Amino acid sequence: MTIAHLRTAADAARAHAWCPYSQYPVGAALETDTGRVYVGCNVENASYPAGTCAERVALGAAIADGARRFVRIVITTAASAPTPPCGICRQALVEFAPALEIVAVTPEGRTARWSLADLLPAPFTPASLENA
Ligand code: THU
Repeated sequence: MTIAHLRTAADAARAHAWCPYSQYPVGAALETDTGRVYVGCNVENASYPAGTCAERVALGAAIADGARRFVRIVITTAASAPTPPCGICRQALVEFAPALEIVAVTPEGRTARWSLADLLPAPFTPASLENA
């Protein structure tokens, strides 16, 4: 799967974002180790804390479909600079893909790449629960 393909998928999801409060649409395309792609957009709510980020919507769709192993996520916004995932999304993603490649792309094509391992050092993981 190319980044261009994933960017197109993320942008298609971003077009459906429900973000009347922030006016900040986000799209995400999560790729599995078998090349399947699950998309998400942010879904806000009049009760603000009930809103959900695009990355976790994509992750939930993937998990609900039985996918478990992920290699890459592409995130698109309308911002002028590429935007990394928020801390809660980093934590949600590390549960399944500690070495996930994260790619953020702007409408102009500005691109940034990170490893989740770099964005979330010393993560709390399922293994952490075994140390109690
Ligand atoms: N948002 C995401 O969808 N992903 C992120 O990683 C950061 C923020 C959404 C949440 C909210 O709907 C809007 O962007 C503004 O914070």
